[in-house]
Amino acid sequence: TAGTVIAVDGPAAAGKGTLARRLAAALGLPYLDTGLLYRAVGRRVLDRGADPRDAAEAEAAARSLTPDDLERPDLRGPMADMAASAVAAIPAVRAALLDFQRAFGRERGAVLDGRDIGTVVFPQAPVKLFVTASVEERARRRFLELRGRGVAADAAQVESEIRDRDAQDANRPVAPLRPAADAVMLDTTALDAEAAFVTALEMVRARL
Ligand code: C5P
Repeated sequence: TAGTVIAVDGPAAAGKGTLARRLAAALGLPYLDTGLLYRAVGRRVLDRGADPRDAAEAEAAARSLTPDDLERPDLRGPMADMAASAVAAIPAVRAALLDFQRAFGRERGAVLDGRDIGTVVFPQAPVKLFVTASVEERARRRFLELRGRGVAADAAQVESEIRDRDAQDANRPVAPLRPAADAVMLDTTALDAEAAFVTALEMVRARL
């Protein structure tokens, strides 16, 4: 698998991160959570007291992103989710993050998870998984994850935020969330993390 790029895309809270990290470990490949890049850009804009929909602010934040920004402890939570999705709709932000993602994968191969890895970042990737689950199940998982981290959350609110973010990600003109034509679909609604991993690893091995 050296040099191989594996794209893992899908909507919010579908379990892509856990799955992609485990695939990377099993295949001996580096792993990149590309959502973190957008989260870190959104955070930097919020830090400046600016609006994440402000294209100039968001582009400046994307261009000056450093590795330390990706280590921030406050990149997960409703504010960071929506700020990430807002900056991600801005073409100049996406352009500024493209080279980093491509360089990361090109070097030694990698598993990357995100929204547009199979469609835009690595359209030639030999394996593309599109990971989904019902919105109710994704909301349930996110709610439990937040609670597990001690974050107060309201189940109905979590579900409505996931619906809003998916709509925003799927309806933007640039790099909208959608499966690549040659993506393999993996619906994890009825699968636990272990079953999803075993199924995904089989799908990957069958295509390498
Ligand atoms: O994957 P995660 O939920 O952490 O991503 C946060 C947001 O970043 C997404 O809602 C999406 O708007 C954006 N994103 C993106 N393209 C990627 C990864 C994330 O637009 N490759």
